[in-house]
Amino acid sequence: MNIPPDEVSRVTNALATDGWCVVPDLLSAAQTQALAAECRAMHEARQLTPARVGATRTATPWRGDSTHWFQAGAMSAPQQAFSDRLDALRRAFNRELMLGLVECESHYAVYPPGAGYARHIDRLRDNDARVVSAVFYLNEGWQHADGGALRLYLDGGSHRDIYPHAGKLLLFLSAQFEHEVLPATRDRMSVACWMRQRTFGVIG
Ligand code: OGA
Ligand code: MN
Repeated sequence: MNIPPDEVSRVTNALATDGWCVVPDLLSAAQTQALAAECRAMHEARQLTPARVGATRTATPWRGDSTHWFQAGAMSAPQQAFSDRLDALRRAFNRELMLGLVECESHYAVYPPGAGYARHIDRLRDNDARVVSAVFYLNEGWQHADGGALRLYLDGGSHRDIYPHAGKLLLFLSAQFEHEVLPATRDRMSVACWMRQRTFGVIG
């Protein structure tokens, strides 16, 4: 099943107008549950690696998640279903918004209780490959009292808190929005994804 064309248009228009957008149900419940089960199993098998920050890849108290990158050509069925869906959106953005996005990179992320990610921007200083950030949430039965919102800082000083409910996809322009992950009281699982444009060599 594909994303309905009306929904693709709504998402594309929202990205063009506001620079960000929430898609409530990107995948079927069964597909989302399969991703969540795989992420949890890999986490329990200690196959996720504590994340690093910046070009020096140093461990940091600023960021408390552990990650596992999807490997192109070696994806599990749940990873492939997610990637196919994101690719359909990527192609729609290219077609409608002339974004020139050539690929997606994705990783699982698990934030243990109390961990967050301090306010940051996803576009790296010396590399402008990342154009669209996408975060897909995997947490069944999430309550606001569990915390763990992604706080998206908007123009004009306001912000929006997006809670990590299973099935929800958040999209935003990587260069435009500072955001942070607030700590939660339970494990918080997601797939973080970036749609990338071609770059002509990395400076520095
Ligand atoms: C990131 C990030 C947000 C989230 O990985 O860069 O901001 O909600 N993640 O997990
Ligand atoms: Mn981020």
